[in-house]
Amino acid sequence: MYRSPSKLSEAVRQRVVQTLNERLADGLDLHSQIKVAHWNIKGPQFASLHPLFETFALGLANHNDAIAERAVTLGGHVYGTVRHAAKTSRIPEYEQDTVHDLEHVRLLADRIESYLVGLRETRGIGEKEGDTDTVDLVTGIVSEFEKHAWFLRASLES
Ligand SMILES: [Fe+2]
Repeated sequence: MYRSPSKLSEAVRQRVVQTLNERLADGLDLHSQIKVAHWNIKGPQFASLHPLFETFALGLANHNDAIAERAVTLGGHVYGTVRHAAKTSRIPEYEQDTVHDLEHVRLLADRIESYLVGLRETRGIGEKEGDTDTVDLVTGIVSEFEKHAWFLRASLES
């Protein structure tokens, strides 16, 4: 571990860095999946969903950066290549041949919900370890992605 401005112990910082690296892998994987949906989507909902998916991807790219920078602020090292993310991500692989608009909505809703499971786990570790700043960071991402999941689920209601 590197020197950190944080007042948390090295053992705590190590645990938080570990979970942040896991969320970075999930987030990088999910980002690539959202872009695949953004590129391949076809159907009557194209005009609204194509830009919506881009909004999700842009937000997630910023969150991935913030998660990585929180980990290095805590004195950790981050692992963020595509190959590393592919090996360690907990998000299920995307069905890349998908075309139909609402099928992409369903796939992304499922994957965003998987991402949320990991985020809540990371937030729980932050709470247990007294890392309020990590909790605060992750809570912002949870709120945003719960909203995205609601939007997608609402699009699937008949
Ligand atoms: Fe684009």
